[in-house]
Amino acid sequence: MPTSPTYKKWVEAQGIPIHSGYYIEDLRTVEVGPWSARECNAAFIDVLGLEGVAEIRVTEIPPGKTLPPLRSVAEEAVYVLDGVGQTSVWVGKEEKRINFEWDKRSMFILPPNVKHQFTNMQGNKPARLAHVSYMPVAMSVWPDPEFIFNNPYVNTNVQATEGGQFATAKAVDVPKDGFRNITVQWWGNFFPDLAAWDKLESHTVRGSGGSVLDLRFPNSEMTGHMSVFPSGRYKKGHRHGPGVVIIIPAGDGYSLMWEEGKEKIVIPWHEGSLFVPPNRWFHQHFNVGGYPARYLAMHTLPVFSRSEKLEDKKNDQIEYPDEDPLVQELFHEELAKRGQKSDMPDVAYKDYDFKWTQAATASLVS
Ligand SMILES: [Fe+2]
Repeated sequence: MPTSPTYKKWVEAQGIPIHSGYYIEDLRTVEVGPWSARECNAAFIDVLGLEGVAEIRVTEIPPGKTLPPLRSVAEEAVYVLDGVGQTSVWVGKEEKRINFEWDKRSMFILPPNVKHQFTNMQGNKPARLAHVSYMPVAMSVWPDPEFIFNNPYVNTNVQATEGGQFATAKAVDVPKDGFRNITVQWWGNFFPDLAAWDKLESHTVRGSGGSVLDLRFPNSEMTGHMSVFPSGRYKKGHRHGPGVVIIIPAGDGYSLMWEEGKEKIVIPWHEGSLFVPPNRWFHQHFNVGGYPARYLAMHTLPVFSRSEKLEDKKNDQIEYPDEDPLVQELFHEELAKRGQKSDMPDVAYKDYDFKWTQAATASLVS
């Protein structure tokens, strides 16, 4: 899928590294270069699967430094790869700014046109942030970077106040939806630690006895979820539209990605890894570490996400009994390399209606 020509031109003009390929094994160490306009080091991540839908950037903030204020009409999700810092946000008058402090594995949402400023609170090491937005779509609709980054619109939907939308996200009861069958969503603009959740719910759709947690943000069409699944197990293969960005907060495993009928590509992952399954490519996630793995999925725009809901389950999800035998073979090989064993019950490979029990979700993370 071609990307916006305006976006492509703007990216190339920034003069920072652009990393392509199927995946980035570690965003915490991927090469960044000086971005003079923003007084930081940064890189664009242009992995296959973004397909003109989403943008991923990495920002490295030098020790102790505060970056210049920014705003953008394209809303942005920010995940903290490493470091300790602070974000100031304000709408309208700068003296009304509020601050929130983040740490490794925090996540926050910067709504459209909210002025914000990042500070690295550690004087002895850089901080790293991963940013996800729909910037290529925004630049296609408004093909003028000046409009995107220097727009005087004041977003009065945003409560940048003490105790407002940037206070710690809250669990909100919701009616069960037909897809994931969950009853709680986490709502807000600031999620202090993606490795420390309670209220995870059973993820019944993709097997493995895993758990899930849905993330929702005020006045936003951006959505996400976090999936947690046990050691020695793997989820069902499935496919959907492009632009679903997967970042690993914790775990030791791999995913397979393949276009129907083509060779399977192995994506090794651990904390800090990122990949984006390409449009209509099957993908499947495997936990071969000795503890629960978790991934953050930032969803694509609703217009591209139709088949995430498995309208055509038979065509878009592969049940365990129907798998290519190579899938299990590779799983056993990768487990053996780590001295781990499969925890997949034999019956799951025979019974299409096998009912998984939700497994414990406590993670061993550093
Ligand atoms: Fe998926």
